[in-house]
Amino acid sequence: MTAGNPEALLDGWRARVDGYLAARLASPAGDGSPELLEAMRYAVLGGGKRLRPLFVLAAARAAGGDPDAALPFAAAVEMIHAYSLVHDDLPAMDDDELRRGRPTVHVVHGEAMAILAGDALQALAFETLAEAPLPPERVVAGLRTLGRAAGALGMAGGQALDLLSEGQPATEDLVARIDRLKTGALIAASFRLGAEAAGAPRELAGRLEAAGRAAGLAFQVQDDILDATASTEQLGKTAGKDAVQEKATWVAAVGLAEARRRAAEAFAETRELLGPLGPAAEPLRRLVARVEARSS
Ligand code: IPE
Ligand code: IPE
Ligand code: MG
Ligand code: MG
Ligand code: MG
Repeated sequence: MTAGNPEALLDGWRARVDGYLAARLASPAGDGSPELLEAMRYAVLGGGKRLRPLFVLAAARAAGGDPDAALPFAAAVEMIHAYSLVHDDLPAMDDDELRRGRPTVHVVHGEAMAILAGDALQALAFETLAEAPLPPERVVAGLRTLGRAAGALGMAGGQALDLLSEGQPATEDLVARIDRLKTGALIAASFRLGAEAAGAPRELAGRLEAAGRAAGLAFQVQDDILDATASTEQLGKTAGKDAVQEKATWVAAVGLAEARRRAAEAFAETRELLGPLGPAAEPLRRLVARVEARSS
């Protein structure tokens, strides 16, 4: 895989992730529906920061593993994430018409195809992860980690809480609970999947997952701040919707200034947890720094 400094490594990994995803979605539909495959491709390709797959690869490297062998793990997380965005944008959920700077999947392909594209991407994620060229016990660990993070006690559970909390008083406890699940679970799982792909010892995997939990919290606090402060053009998704939909966000719960302080605190905790990991963790530290500096 790409040699060089941490920034060049990250850029190289991003290109690898994009290439891998494109190849995984390029196969002819066989007896399946070309329309469904097209909706899946639209959902995954041509946009997105690819943060979760990069977390997987950088965590694998931090744990002494080969990021190349972790690519199927990384692609699998992005497929789950892309599916979650397709469903998040549906009229029955956040009802959004813009995502990654383009019309949402249901706007282009219709609601039924958007629902099915999400379903099929979720299935493809597990199929893809299962094909990783790694010892079977690492693959099984990865399948369990991804399943737990995507399900009722992870992303899907958090999405349910998010929707049921619209219009409710946004207490700090409620917002923290929603975010641990809807966003934190998949980001923490990305760090853990990197460790699992590398066959990391339990303590190191635990430290990486803890760093992922802190990064996941910081990330959703930022998302809530950006929704309230950035423009639609900058975000590639409709700005200012959380207030209109009376979402339980960090901005609603603690205000903008305190939300900014919380994000900075969670990033500092992430840095502290990654600090002792040595030079192999430098790309992961750089990636966290990029996320902290993001404006979209
Ligand atoms: C958006 O995630 C959804 C949240 C969990 C807040 P990203 O900001 O990572 O979206 P993309 O993948 O870059 O489009
Ligand atoms: C979405 O949170 C989290 C998931 C997709 C699981 P948001 O609803 O805040 O994400 P955006 O702001 O639409 O990207
Ligand atoms: Mg939502
Ligand atoms: Mg949304
Ligand atoms: Mg948001």
